[in-house]
Amino acid sequence: MSKQLDAAHGPKQLQSDMDWKENIVYEIYVRSFNDSNGDGVGDLRGIIQKIDYIEQLGVTAVWLSPIFDSPNRDYGYDVRDYFSIHPEYGTLDDFDELLEALHERGIRLVMEIVPNHTSTEHRWFQEALASPDSPYRDYYIWRPGGEEGSPPNNWTSFLGDPAWTYDEASDQYYFHTYAEHQPDLNWDNPQVREELYRAMIFWLEKGVDGFRVDTANVLSKNKDFPDTDETRRIQGSGEKFYKNGPRIHEYLREMREKVFDRYPDVFTLGESSQVTVEDVEKYTLPQRKELDLILMIEASKICDEPDDMWRSKPWKLSMLKDIMRKWLKDLHEDAWIGMYLSNHDHVRMVSYLGDDEHHREESAKMLSVFLMTLRGTPNLLQGEELGMTDAHFFNSIEDIKEQQALAYYDLMVNERGMEPETILRRILGKARDHTRTPMQWTSEPGAGFTTGAPWQRINPNKSEINAALQEDDPASVLNLYRRMIRLRREHPALSLGSYEPVPELDDDEHIYAYVRERQGERWLIVLNFSTSPRQARLPQSLLADLQTADCVVCTDEHRSDLLKKDVTELAPYDYYVYRLS
Ligand code: GLC
Ligand code: CA
Repeated sequence: MSKQLDAAHGPKQLQSDMDWKENIVYEIYVRSFNDSNGDGVGDLRGIIQKIDYIEQLGVTAVWLSPIFDSPNRDYGYDVRDYFSIHPEYGTLDDFDELLEALHERGIRLVMEIVPNHTSTEHRWFQEALASPDSPYRDYYIWRPGGEEGSPPNNWTSFLGDPAWTYDEASDQYYFHTYAEHQPDLNWDNPQVREELYRAMIFWLEKGVDGFRVDTANVLSKNKDFPDTDETRRIQGSGEKFYKNGPRIHEYLREMREKVFDRYPDVFTLGESSQVTVEDVEKYTLPQRKELDLILMIEASKICDEPDDMWRSKPWKLSMLKDIMRKWLKDLHEDAWIGMYLSNHDHVRMVSYLGDDEHHREESAKMLSVFLMTLRGTPNLLQGEELGMTDAHFFNSIEDIKEQQALAYYDLMVNERGMEPETILRRILGKARDHTRTPMQWTSEPGAGFTTGAPWQRINPNKSEINAALQEDDPASVLNLYRRMIRLRREHPALSLGSYEPVPELDDDEHIYAYVRERQGERWLIVLNFSTSPRQARLPQSLLADLQTADCVVCTDEHRSDLLKKDVTELAPYDYYVYRLS
């Protein structure tokens, strides 16, 4: 099947000659985007109100965080019903209207499907609990405990607690990769797979253009459940037995065949961690017919200690270059990744890769140039286009609403007796709430997000960082994003072209330079990732080409010839994008 977007099937104005890989995806974290009715929670009608803004940004697709009915303990990643919209977000009619409004403007809608687990409040789990003889019992994964009332094995969930929870009534444990209220579905049961396919088809019939498939590589587990030797790891110990598991490729192929291949032009973004280059090739090489792309998680975890994601380690530019080399150069050229630097699960990129204190605007701009000139399909998190920062105003555990951080606090402080201050410091630095504070539209008290009391605190820096302020300022972060997005759409070399880091600068811990090339079109990108001025020394071969090249985007137009010299000094967070041929 050709993945070319076909005007006859898709919405009328979707760009028909565009390869799906060239999409630029905007992540809308619905709860925090725009509240239309003053209850403090973002909603679907709120998105409809901002449709002009989304269109002007230039993105080609919008990915909505989960909107299905849910008790919202993990904000929609705990689904109670795959066929209805959570009432706080709106109705099915609102959804249809939003889809139509996006399509009218040629923007695709990507939904989130959470196929690995449901909420314990889902009807299937309720039936499974109520009666071990019910057919729904086998929709989940149950095992008897070990000796002396211990869980069936020593694996931990991604929250760090045991991956098994005891059900007294049946004297058995159920398995959960995430929180105890998110039991894993048993993908080895064909009924389960059929039910999930039915749900996806329901939304595809409405005309959605794709899915982000949550935790796509954990669907198949090693059902021998051997103990793991990775006992030092706090979160996800044992994941080698449940990621990229024994039947995962079979299941993804089946899902593609029974669901996605029935709808032309639909594309799938698989969320996956702990994947090697070979894994990603298996998941995304077109002839294997599994997923279209894997979202590359590594850059956003660059500061995380592997054994405990709440502990931070310093990062260096050479580490970032290594990550990019692996996914943009070493990966088979027909395999594909989605590129992002932040999303709703991490901190904001300007606060870790940039400098949100002394060089916020400059570093946010440099990062926009970086993200928009990398190979892959970029995913931009709402607010990134404004240079929104982490929530440095969080100062107590009450400010934290997301479950992973709260579970870590509970585990380390209440169970292991660690100093509350130490743990709090780790959480306040990293909680997923940082990227979930409301969008900053204006400097008004509700930031233009709500007229009521917002569900999560609004960053007080809304008075300096907001969309209204940046709208008409040609030098704003927002207007640079718009420009970079346009440039990327006009030049497929920037999405599809090869990625070649400049080898002479491989070890440079401040300057990042790479060439993108496709069908004779060549681009050179030079970025200063440092908070201070740095010397750049480009190799002679590039200097020769540069003499006649135009600087298409640069920090300062008056300095656009700067890099044409043998040695030159770049200001903090300078960015230069040259078209070489
Ligand atoms: C993914 C989501 C995250 C969620 C988890 C469990 O990692 O991005 O927000 O908590 O899956 O569904
Ligand atoms: Ca609302």
